[in-house]
Amino acid sequence: MKTSIALIGFMGTGKTVAGKLLAVKLGKKFIETDSIIEKKAGKSIPEIFREDGEISFRELEIEAIKEAANEKNAVIACGGGMVLNKINIDRLNKESIIVCLTASPQVIIKRTSGNEGERPLLAVPDRAQQIKELMKFRKPYYERLADITINTSGMSVDSVVERIIRKVKDNDS
Ligand code: S3P
Repeated sequence: MKTSIALIGFMGTGKTVAGKLLAVKLGKKFIETDSIIEKKAGKSIPEIFREDGEISFRELEIEAIKEAANEKNAVIACGGGMVLNKINIDRLNKESIIVCLTASPQVIIKRTSGNEGERPLLAVPDRAQQIKELMKFRKPYYERLADITINTSGMSVDSVVERIIRKVKDNDS
């Protein structure tokens, strides 16, 4: 039986905040792939993008997912772009139930405003347009990988976590 839960989905869908609370509630270990990457690289995600480029970041991400995917009894918050590499998908599927968090573009625009500096892909002049384009391109990838999908627009973190717990239980039975 799969003992880990991987949270996937676009930036600003709440993977990190929901993941932390979910891990506490279920008594599982919380892992964030972006943090693994930053620790390994010894620099922040924006610095990696700026100094080494997105391709180097994606290579580090493959290593981070590999490490996280081997963990049992964990909640794994995955970086939003990890679905772009099939190897990540195959690895995550082995031990984890995959929960995709979604939100409307309007909600994502709101949730990610003010911290564009932390997300290099959103540090562009027309952030709204960029979000819409990236979401459109990635949607089929998220849909294909998800065992469970939850739209978090307008929901509190508590309700998102409750819904994840309920749906994971239904998925197991
Ligand atoms: C990215 C999402 C980010 C981070 C990096 C790239 C993406 O993580 O991995 O900036 O390509 O969607 P979050 O989804 O946690 O913001």
